[in-house]
Amino acid sequence: MTRKILVTSALPYANGAIHLGHLVEYIQTDIWVRFQKMRGNECWYVCADDTHGTPIMLRAEKEGITPEALIARVHEEHSRDFAGFHVAFDNYYTTHSDETRQCANEIYARLRQAGLIETRTIEQYYDPLKEMFLPDRFIKGECPKCGTADQYGDNCESCGAAYTPNELKNPYSAISGAKPELRQSEHYFFRLSDPRCQEFLRAWTQRLQSEAANKLQEWLGGEGENKLTDWDISRDAPYFGFEIPDAPGKYFYVWLDAPIGYMGSFKNLCAKRGLDFDEYWKPDSQAELYHFIGKDILYFHALFWPAELVNAGYRAPTNVFAHGFLTVDGAKMSKSRGTFITAESYLAQGLNPEWLRYYFAAKLSNTMEDLDLNLDDFIARVNSDLVGKFVNIASRSAGFIAKRFNGQLGTCDETLPAFRTIAERRAAIAELFEAREFGKAVREIMALTDLANQYVDSVKPWELAKQEGREAELHAACTNALNLFRQLAVLLKPVLPALADRIAAFLNVAPFAWDDAGSVLAAGHAIRAYEHLMTRVDKKQVDALVDANRASLAPAPAPAPQKHAEKQEKAAAAATAQAAVGDDPHIAIDDFMKVDLRIARIAEASHVEGADKLVRLVLDVGPLGTRQVFAGIKAAYDPAQLAGRLTVMVANLAPRKMKFGMSEGMVLAASDPDGQTPGIFLLSPDAGAQPGMRVK
Ligand code: 2FM
Ligand code: ZN
Repeated sequence: MTRKILVTSALPYANGAIHLGHLVEYIQTDIWVRFQKMRGNECWYVCADDTHGTPIMLRAEKEGITPEALIARVHEEHSRDFAGFHVAFDNYYTTHSDETRQCANEIYARLRQAGLIETRTIEQYYDPLKEMFLPDRFIKGECPKCGTADQYGDNCESCGAAYTPNELKNPYSAISGAKPELRQSEHYFFRLSDPRCQEFLRAWTQRLQSEAANKLQEWLGGEGENKLTDWDISRDAPYFGFEIPDAPGKYFYVWLDAPIGYMGSFKNLCAKRGLDFDEYWKPDSQAELYHFIGKDILYFHALFWPAELVNAGYRAPTNVFAHGFLTVDGAKMSKSRGTFITAESYLAQGLNPEWLRYYFAAKLSNTMEDLDLNLDDFIARVNSDLVGKFVNIASRSAGFIAKRFNGQLGTCDETLPAFRTIAERRAAIAELFEAREFGKAVREIMALTDLANQYVDSVKPWELAKQEGREAELHAACTNALNLFRQLAVLLKPVLPALADRIAAFLNVAPFAWDDAGSVLAAGHAIRAYEHLMTRVDKKQVDALVDANRASLAPAPAPAPQKHAEKQEKAAAAATAQAAVGDDPHIAIDDFMKVDLRIARIAEASHVEGADKLVRLVLDVGPLGTRQVFAGIKAAYDPAQLAGRLTVMVANLAPRKMKFGMSEGMVLAASDPDGQTPGIFLLSPDAGAQPGMRVK
């Protein structure tokens, strides 16, 4: 029976690039969807950009564009990256859509109707400079437990303590540096603590994969316990999102409308393809609904989302499939190590996307365990399995069919052990794909590939070709080898779709369906000329990829609190005195070129009231205009001596709001970090340099 299946991957935020960590999930989902489609099921794969929220609003502001312009640009970038890795969504949409708004309003109205929405006045930090309430991640301060400075509003990176923003000592706004004030505001809550939600979730949880079910049990507590708390679903203006109907100035929190974006994207697809939306979303729907997600967002997908859906008159997801995180060479992805690899850079360096699809598939299981991309193992495995074993079957047999047999296949011997074993294992491999045990499926397919190679090794077409009178044997050997190759290509198609399509084209057959792995090509079937199917991974390419991703600059220092003027001064002094470097000795030239160094004339220099180390400079940067910079050079320079001299500045450093005003760049100075030669030495160009000239 044809199953009707709707599949989603988590919606990526519309303010960042797709990286290899994201791709684990999209590749995992895409493999599963392709497998379902090859089986003849009606399977739809939808996704969208997650476009709302404060970070996106602020990012657009920083770039000087509207949020709409930002999300439109990022939508293009994300679509390009996914297509580059053969992630074939049936619809890649946006949450900032009429469809999502309509669904969000409807779900909200129905939940309110059901008595599951309530309003409460809460106290929250407010940034008086920026005139907005601050999300937890935009409040920083000293850890209430260990006193470490510059910690985020929810947990301390130094001692690991968890707390609420109100507990931070000396809090400051990470946006403006201002001291936040506690203010009251009315918020809307989804009553997850209601017994209806509890009851439903306890039953629904049973269907999840065991690790996820255990996690949920923990969150729900034992029978009779009520551990779930209500969920704050509103945010105050200014906010980029959907305004709550009849609540001016109140917006749906991004996490309310994000999963509704799955519906919005599908609704949009329905309109394009004439599909019946209700058939997939009505409470008694026979269609299957699966969400592929990372384990970090299980709470949203396995508690809030199903509880919202069923109480708003929709079906609940059939299942939620959570995966683990990606590590690279055994560690968290790191910008300074160059292992925070973007999808774009991978493709730009000329690496084959199917190498990565294969490697991820080989490592994926249906658990929430983390997955490691070991770069040496990646090279070894792709070269050995795909090039050395799989493609090798065709490259050792296809040429003879073209040259000696006019491109026509002979009669295939399906009684050979390799064919029989493929026939025996095919159903089990299908079950592994169905169960998302891709690593096991790949191992099975590679074992079959070994059998096919053993066959080729035993008949040695290259030797038969040299011997007279053995034409028939040569024809049979190459025919058998190519038929084995075809069956293996069918089994690998969910993982390697582009390669499988090229193989189908070379074999002169229609794109493969799953059942093609159970048949052979007829005698006399003409194939096309063989073209090389896959190159080996060269270690140099991988090294270049890591180099290209290695951050050349230390992260820009976070805005410091008003209360901490001294610390801020030190940071400015340090920033002035030393060029920031990553933890690797090398950077690529492209990285260096990102730093816009310019000749600047010091137009004004003055003391800064209340600052021991800073001098305020107004720099004339020729065509770039003037810039105000606070430089930590007071110990070495009297402002009166500075006016008029030329120096070098970083002109594209993000502006920083300091207690004393905006600092719009950085001047370059030398200093001896060990203090052997004390002093700060401002750089000067040779005579003739003009303000605004680029330094490189
Ligand atoms: O964690 C994230 O990246 C979110 N943007 C995922 C949203 S998934 C769904 F709920 F929309
Ligand atoms: Zn701490």
